[in-house]
Amino acid sequence: MLTNDQLAQWDRENFFHPSTHLAQFARGEAPSRVITGGKGVFIEDRDGNRLLDAFAGLYCVNVGYGRPEIADAIADQARQLAYYHAYVGHGTETSITLAKMIMDRAPGNMSKVYFGLSGSDANETNIKLVWYYNNILGRPEKKKIISRWRGYHGSGLMTGSLTGLELFHKKFDLPLSQVLHTEAPYYFRRSHLEQSEEEFVAHCVAELEALIAREGADTIAAFIGEPALGTGGLVPPPAGYWPAIQQVLKKHDILLVADEVVTGFGRLGTMFGSDHYGIDADIITIAKGLTSAYAPLSGSIISDRVWKVLEDGTDENGPIGHGWTYSAHPIGAAAGIANLNLIDQLGLVDNAGTTGTYLLNAMRDALSSHANVGDVRGEGLLLAVEFVEDRDSRTFFDPSKKIGAHVAGELLKRGVIARAMPQGDIIGFAPPLCISDAEVDEVVAAMANAVKAVLG
Ligand SMILES: Cc1ncc(COP(=O)(O)O)c(C=O)c1O
Repeated sequence: MLTNDQLAQWDRENFFHPSTHLAQFARGEAPSRVITGGKGVFIEDRDGNRLLDAFAGLYCVNVGYGRPEIADAIADQARQLAYYHAYVGHGTETSITLAKMIMDRAPGNMSKVYFGLSGSDANETNIKLVWYYNNILGRPEKKKIISRWRGYHGSGLMTGSLTGLELFHKKFDLPLSQVLHTEAPYYFRRSHLEQSEEEFVAHCVAELEALIAREGADTIAAFIGEPALGTGGLVPPPAGYWPAIQQVLKKHDILLVADEVVTGFGRLGTMFGSDHYGIDADIITIAKGLTSAYAPLSGSIISDRVWKVLEDGTDENGPIGHGWTYSAHPIGAAAGIANLNLIDQLGLVDNAGTTGTYLLNAMRDALSSHANVGDVRGEGLLLAVEFVEDRDSRTFFDPSKKIGAHVAGELLKRGVIARAMPQGDIIGFAPPLCISDAEVDEVVAAMANAVKAVLG
């Protein structure tokens, strides 16, 4: 192994880490962790620790680490043609092939895919296209975007605004004025404990209707949502949520953007979350699972309805003034092709469903009777454990106690990486889709011990 005893110092002196407490890191109070390798669901750090990564990086390494098929595809593409752009009708064999493979897997009403590099830039693209769409249709006032509190859609100017988490707004002068937030479909955190799930869905719908009435439907262009809330708490929606919300959107001619950056390509046990919940989106955002993060690549999948208007728009205005140098980068596309083939060959979509059910049941068996476990919820290989100080009154812990972070820390000591979600005492699990039942058992046993270590 490469040994360089200056690496930690170089890291502190030169590297601006995202989503990091910069001052603590600079003072050496937060760890500098250097990851050196990975195989299957395990990663290895520079000190030789082998860790079971039950969050698949940032829930993106869906096929698992160390897949030679993807590495070879990337290397072959780099040797043959590392780059050519996609502007003015150009493409490469890989980018065109991947577009076809995505459309073969996407819901039936979809027409084309635009490629970006990250979930954030794909959502920025989506909002620009929604605005363009309404301008072409002669509705220049119809521009506001509704997102949900606790939604996560990226951290750019527009996407950071769409994200409904305080940390991503504070001191950045966000959200921008075109963005409105509505109730999160988070039944466990409902304001009125006596509400049934059905009543809570009715409440979410009423909140949305009231917001639209206040602002005027003729000012609202689109609604964006993750099929199941991700960073905001890993929360599958209450039954009936998506059909009820879609009825409202259709009534007011508001486009629906399904942000499938996490749920796309199998995480919920179906190819897309839209398939799982019967979501009929106008635009679908994809990223992470598209390449399993072997190379950066994202996409905006555009429905027939929106595409037709974009086409008409260019007849009226000339070429669409949107694109990145690295749109449809051939190395990303090569990774995407190899990754989608692997997902099929290994049956990973089905595995996410069956192993996900096994994980949820095992976690519930291990933890549900614990006095401080308020909720164990999940869909496919997306699972959360939420802690409370008191179950009967559903009183949450004081955030300063950092219960979630402590549990994640104890898990790490036991060789398992899970994520302390940013808002609430919530531990998230989203392992690679290739995780086995035996590996799930390791995760659950470590979690039971970690919870005991922190909460007794
Ligand atoms: C649902 C969702 N949308 C968008 C993003 C932003 O993606 P990126 O971090 O690649 O910009 C994320 C990232 O976690 C996400 O979870």
